[in-house]
Parts: sequence; structure tokens; C-alpha cells
Amino acid sequence: MSYDKSGPPTQSKIANPKSKTRMGQARLHWEGKRSPRPVAIPPARHIETYRPAQSTIQKHKPKTWAGWPATAYPAGGLLFHGDNKAALAHLLSGGFRGKVNLVYADPPFASGFEYTRKIELRKGRGGAGVVGKQVQYNDTWDDDTYLQFMYERLLLLHELLAGEGSIYLHCDWRQSHHLRCLMDEVFGAENLRNEIIWFYPRGGDGERQFNRKHDTILFYTKGDTWTFNYHDVLIPYTQKQLDRFDHEDEHGRFYWNVNPRGERVKTYLRKKGIGEYDVWNIGINAAQIRRVGYPTMKPEALLERIIRASSNPGDIVLDCFAGSGTTAVVAQKLGRRWIAGDVNRRAIQIAAKRLYAVAREPFTVWRVGNGDDEPREPPTAKVSVERLASANGHGPVVRITLDEYANPAIGAWLKQRSGENSLDLSDGRCMIDSVMIDPAYDGHTFRVALADMPAKQHEAVRGVYELPAAGEVGTVAVKIVDVLGGEVIVTARPEV
Ligand SMILES: C[S@@+](CC[C@H](N)C(=O)[O-])C[C@H]1O[C@@H](n2cnc3c(N)ncnc32)[C@H](O)[C@@H]1O
Repeated sequence: MSYDKSGPPTQSKIANPKSKTRMGQARLHWEGKRSPRPVAIPPARHIETYRPAQSTIQKHKPKTWAGWPATAYPAGGLLFHGDNKAALAHLLSGGFRGKVNLVYADPPFASGFEYTRKIELRKGRGGAGVVGKQVQYNDTWDDDTYLQFMYERLLLLHELLAGEGSIYLHCDWRQSHHLRCLMDEVFGAENLRNEIIWFYPRGGDGERQFNRKHDTILFYTKGDTWTFNYHDVLIPYTQKQLDRFDHEDEHGRFYWNVNPRGERVKTYLRKKGIGEYDVWNIGINAAQIRRVGYPTMKPEALLERIIRASSNPGDIVLDCFAGSGTTAVVAQKLGRRWIAGDVNRRAIQIAAKRLYAVAREPFTVWRVGNGDDEPREPPTAKVSVERLASANGHGPVVRITLDEYANPAIGAWLKQRSGENSLDLSDGRCMIDSVMIDPAYDGHTFRVALADMPAKQHEAVRGVYELPAAGEVGTVAVKIVDVLGGEVIVTARPEV
């Protein structure tokens, strides 16, 4: 990260909410409500750069990132690991104040649940399969702490949002009433555009009250002009509706003479469909959630609608409660620039993996503060590196072989589960989710030149890799992420 001559800023200023309080407008109070104050900025470390294959970069010639507002960060997607209060303060001090076009925020809902995901081993000698559950995050809060937490982040998001920008805050019945008051305070009640109901008819069936099958998405804009791409989110006309436009005028335009109510009104076919409603029936894809491995992952179709409606190609989309990275993935696919972050290490690993699969240009990962806790007993690995004069008729290559991998936490888990301790973990690949290689590691930032991230749930990583070695080969680093989220970087120099 680079700063101007005055050195790194240590505090980020937040303005008081500008919204006018109208007669009768409710304001929320809670124990310990603190008015806005400068936010301290802990250090951020550039920990990884993901580079898609050179051929992909050349083919797509990333134009989208031209005019990147911040000099403190390289142009390209930004993924922050750490508390988003610190990450947002960084963005403010790093040149993004007023530059973000769209925010989607899907924070904890204060549901009182512990969200878990299934841990599955990949194919090895012991066989693939589910071995247990891992807590992703605990969503238990008292109201005062929750509201202060959200208030501070909404204030920062308000500062980051561009004058014509929009924010979508995703919540449910537990906090939607509180959050709406907070949003009114920070963004202005006059800037509420929609209270969107996301209806997802699936899952459990309660018999004591109506089934709770919707979330609420509060859509606010920063001001009274904003981007809304009405035509990009139309519900297309059905053939039956189109058939009603059964007259054609001298200019080739279709119209109907009699509308569905039987009135004689000449109505032209001007659009391709009907404007989208504020109640969205978008299914949850359970198979995809399981494959991605993040319990509160939202459907890509939901984010697609939001991003298409409220941003244009090249715009900056921000999600600071990124989880599995759905917003950034969809933004990338739709040609928007993106910034995402999460406090959970596993979320960042999953998001990075998903983003690497769709990235057309390099993106970087930053750690703010300490991120979350390091595991007490980290995994261990052994790799060997050889330089070969030629392989398969090509020039010199460096061959990297993964000799061993072990994570004591996975072994301990299996022991706890009766009947599972017979599983053979001697082929450590069954525990590995992904392997990444940096052939010239500088000891600080891991630059991914090759990644082995099997898409299929049970497929094991290859374990042997070759990279072209034109000149002298320096320190090769191998980063391994396992199914439990354990990660380790091991380094080696080529054997002569
Ligand atoms: C509901 S999930 C988001 C799921 C996401 N929309 C997706 O599609 O995968 C909420 C996320 O907020 C993250 N989170 C909670 N507190 C945070 C904080 N202080 N800073 C950053 N992320 C936080 C959690 O780790 C969790 O991944």
C-alpha cells in the first residue's frame, strides 16, 4: 500500500448523517448509542495476488479498471480479510470516498443461530465423504450491540457511496424494523426506494404460525437521482401478451385497440416486458450452496437482478459482508468492478476460489488488523522442487511435488467421531481443497501463478505441478488450503 508524503492516515472522518428529521419521524435509541466519530485505521497487508492465466488476461484486455480512483491499491478486484469497519475506513482513506456506485450488504441477521457447513473429504485412500460440521459464524447478538455495529458500518458505507449510488441492505423479520429506522437516519427516509420482499418457498414447514419464507431487502439511494436500468430487469412479455398487440401501423409499430378490460384504447408495444415488481420469487439452490460450502450464500440470480438494475458496466460494486463472495462473482461476470470483504477466513478462501474461476484480470487480497484467529496447531506440509532441463519436449521446467500434508485438527475431529477414526489420511490430498503456487515468493505477498482447485466436490488435487523455468528458479512457495479452512505456506528451493 502506498501513501502520500504525510504517511499513512490513522483515522477516517465520518460526517454526521445529513438527513433531515421530519415531524413524526422515529429515531432509534439504544444503550450506548454513540454519535459518529473518526474511525481508527489499523494496518492492512497485501497478502495475495491472484493472476488468471496470461492467455485469459490477454484475451480480455481489462479495460474495466481504467480510471481506478485509488492510488493506494492496484487496479483490480479487492478482497479484504478482517473486520469490515477497518476495511471500510481503509477504503475511505485510500481514495474511495464517494466512488462506490452500488453497495449490497448482507450482514448477520441476529438470528441466534450458529451457521455450520458440512466438511467433506476428497478422494484419497480412505474414500471421500462427509466427516462433520464446522461452525462458520455465530449470529447471536444483543440488540444494543447489534444496532451499534450496524450503525457504524452504515455510516461508513454512506461516505463511500457515490452521489448517484444505491445501497441494498438485506435482512429479515428479526431486525428489518430496526434497520429501516437506522437507514432512514443515515440515508434519509426520503431516499427509500423499495422495500423488496425476497420470497423463497422451500425448506421447513412450521405449524404454529405462517411459514416464514421471505427476507427483506431495503433499497435506498444516496440522493434523488440514481441509476436504475429499468429495461435490464424487465419481466419479458409472454407470447399470449404479445399476441394481444395484433394491429400494425404504417411505421411497423404494433398496438392493440382494445385493452384487457375491454376499453378501446390504442396501446403501443414500446417495451420488451413489464417492469419488475418489488416481490421477488427466486429459488434457493441447495446443491450450489453445498458445493460452494457456505451456509448463508445467496443465489446468484438475486445479485444479478440488483447489479443489473442499479449499476452499469465499469461501476464499482461493494459488499463488505461478502461470505462466499456471490456479489463479487456476479459483478465480475457482469463487467463491473468489485470490492468485497469478510472477517471469516474460510469465507475469504471460498470467495477467492470462486473469483479465481471467473476472473479476467488480477485481483488482490488484503488482511486488515489480524483477520480472525489463527488455528492453535497449524497444518504442516512437505514439498519438493526440481528443475528439469526439459519436459515433454518443451523447455526447462520446475516440477513441484506435494509429498506430505497433515492437519492435526482434522485428525482430532475424526477421532471424536466414533467409527470414523478408521479413515486413512495417509494420502494428505484427501484433506486438501486447493493448492496454489508462487514460483518467485518474496516472503510477503503470495502471487498465484498456478492454482489447482478441483471443481468437483470429491476430486483430489493433482499433487504434481510443472511451471516453465526460463531463468534461475528462486524460492518456490506452495500455499495449501484444506477442507477445514486450515492453510499453510511452505517454501522450497530447487534441488540441483
Ligand atoms: C449472511 S453472510 C453473507 C453471505 C453472502 N451474501 C453470500 O452470498 O455468501 C454474513 C457474513 O458477514 C460476515 N461478517 C460478520 N461480521 C463481520 C465483520 N465485522 N466484518 C466483516 N464481515 C463480517 C460473516 O462472516 C458472514 O460471512
